[in-house]
Order: sequence, then C-alpha cells, then structure tokens
Amino acid sequence: MAKLIYEGKAKQMWSTDDPEVLRVVYMDQATALNGKKKDQINGKGIVNNEISSLIFQYLMKKGIETHFIKKLSETEELVKKVEIVPLEMVTRNVSAGHFATRFGVEEGICFETPVEETYYKSDELDDPFINESQSLALKIVKKEELDAMWDISRRVNEILTALFDRMGLILVDFKLEFGRLADGRIILADEISPDTSRLWDANGQHMDKDVFRRNIGDLVETYTEVLNLLENAK
Ligand code: TMP
Repeated sequence: MAKLIYEGKAKQMWSTDDPEVLRVVYMDQATALNGKKKDQINGKGIVNNEISSLIFQYLMKKGIETHFIKKLSETEELVKKVEIVPLEMVTRNVSAGHFATRFGVEEGICFETPVEETYYKSDELDDPFINESQSLALKIVKKEELDAMWDISRRVNEILTALFDRMGLILVDFKLEFGRLADGRIILADEISPDTSRLWDANGQHMDKDVFRRNIGDLVETYTEVLNLLENAK
C-alpha cells in the first residue's frame, strides 16, 4: 500500500512498489508568505505538473541529471527517491521580491553577475538566509556538495534563461532544490515552475506566483499562458 511520505505546501510525495521511486501529487493549493497566505486554486496542480515536467525533461535533454522519471497523469509524476538537502538555492538575474525589499532598491535592476543566495529549509524558523560557512558548520551540506549544487544551478540558469528568452520572457530569479541519491550523488530535485521562479514578459507583466502573492491576476490563466509558450519553444 502506498504511504504518504511527505506533504508540502503544494505537493505530496507517496511511496511506490519500488523503494527507489516516489509518486509526486501536485495539489490545487497556493501559498505565499511562508504559508500565511493560502488558497485552494482549481487547476493549479495540473498546470504546474505539466510545466515542471516539460522543464525537467528539457534540462535532462541538455545533460542535467534530475530526479524526474516520467509524468504519470495530469497531476502526478514519478521521481527517483532522494534525500533532500534542506537548502533553497536562489539565483537572481534581476532585482525583485525579497532582494528589492531587503536592500531597499527598485525591482528590475539587471545584475552583471547573477546573485546567489541559500536559505535553510525550516518552517519553524521561517526559512532563514544561511551562508556557506553557516551551512558547513551546521553540517547541513558538504563543501563538495554545495559546489556541485551551484555548478548545476549556474548551468540551469544559462539553459533556462535562453529557453525563456525564446518564449519572450525574462527569467528574473528562481529557486532550486537538490537531493542525494543512495550513492551520495547530488541531483536536481523538487519542481521548476512559475511557483518557484519569477518570469516577466517584455512589458514587465508578472507571469508567475507574484500574481497570487500581490493579488494582481488569475494564477491558472497566467500559468497556462506560460505553458502554451513553453510548448512552442522547447
Ligand atoms: P524571494 O524574492 O521571495 O526571496 O524569492 C526568490 C525566488 O525564489 C522567487 O523566484 C521565488 C522563489 N522562492 C521559492 O520558490 N520558495 C520560497 O520559499 C522562496 C522564499 C522563494
């Protein structure tokens, strides 16, 4: 019998008959402000699953190793079981969101070199910022693992910036998560979607979860537009 292994804010992970494989269920739920703003949004699970599946398959075609095995149904996918490294790896190409508020600068400043930040995944602590020496001191991650995670993040940034550019969108920032396979190898995990990235169109229109965070548009309509662009560009 399948067991619920983990329930996050927008996804559930279930066991399967294969101990090395998990089934992910994308839920119709959107949260912001670390869960303080929460809504049921019909159709979100389907569109996020489709977008993330397409992006992971595209990255794998470009040589990035990921946990993705296959899309199972409209809202489910099969992934390799990994031990998630409890760090959120954020890359920023353009100032926005917390970067803009934290440093009191406007949104839209293009960085010459991408800004890289890590956050410690902990609901109780509200996912605090954590630097390299702190994450090594707390033995959250090994130095070689962190280097591998940034190396993959930089390649993902290059690949996705070019992909979204072809779609007429700017990849402003995004968050990645990584996991360890049984042999200790680090691979890309979790999801990549407008829930975990900021995408602006040529007019500066938000094509991501900021429409929900800021109450400025319909989430499913916006994500479906991103999906349509992605289907034509990949
Ligand atoms: P931030 O500006 O709120 O720090 O977000 C930077 C990027 O990381 C943005 O694309 C959203 C993504 N992100 C997540 O996917 N999950 C999170 O918990 C946070 C804080 C950010």
